[in-house]
Amino acid sequence: MSELPSSPLRIAVLASGRGSNFAALLEARARGALPVEFVLVGSDKADAGALALARDAGVPTLALSPHDYPDRAAFDHALFERVGQSGAELLVLAGFMRIIDGAALAPWVGRMINIHPSLLPRYRGLHTHRRALAAGDAEHGASVHYVTAELDGGPVIAQARIAIAPDDDEQTLAARLLAHEHRLLPAVVSHIAQGRLALRDGRVWLDGVPLDAPLQWCDHALTR
Ligand code: GAR
Repeated sequence: MSELPSSPLRIAVLASGRGSNFAALLEARARGALPVEFVLVGSDKADAGALALARDAGVPTLALSPHDYPDRAAFDHALFERVGQSGAELLVLAGFMRIIDGAALAPWVGRMINIHPSLLPRYRGLHTHRRALAAGDAEHGASVHYVTAELDGGPVIAQARIAIAPDDDEQTLAARLLAHEHRLLPAVVSHIAQGRLALRDGRVWLDGVPLDAPLQWCDHALTR
């Protein structure tokens, strides 16, 4: 059972790219919808947009290059040591595009979430929009899940769904879904910050009751 008691909850974010999901978290906090404190934004890319956003917001940043380490495990251990030193209680992967060493992430199981642009368990890994289109799927979506050693395989907390339009291409689909990601991720983090969600016995629990299926983002709220 992972209890996350403090208020505001101390959060670290890892991101490799532009950081629009981190921006959504910043925005939710700014309008009072997210009782959290950002203690670190870390990246494997020194030029990540997320780092610039963090600096502008006065959030401590960290950029480590994998090229400076002999292997994945050494890089991940250095990164996760710094995350631990930040005092973070929850680690949010918001577009962090690396596979994480199992031993490095083990202490964070139950305290680390990831947003992934597919309706997991469909389309783990890369090119999710392209694969959903190629499969002729009628719907697509995004998932927020607890991170375990299995890539994109940890228990799913919540999903947002969109219909795929006949004229969608990879770019239009990705852009439309991203807007939903920006609401889904803050909503899940808010639930965690309020102590409403936990990972126990390999299952997601909401308000002390295990979920039979992921929560759905629907009508501006997370619903069972
Ligand atoms: C988001 O679409 C997120 O779901 C995806 O990367 C994008 C990051 O965008 N994450 C993954 O693919 C993880 N496997 P952002 O940098 O603008 O937040």
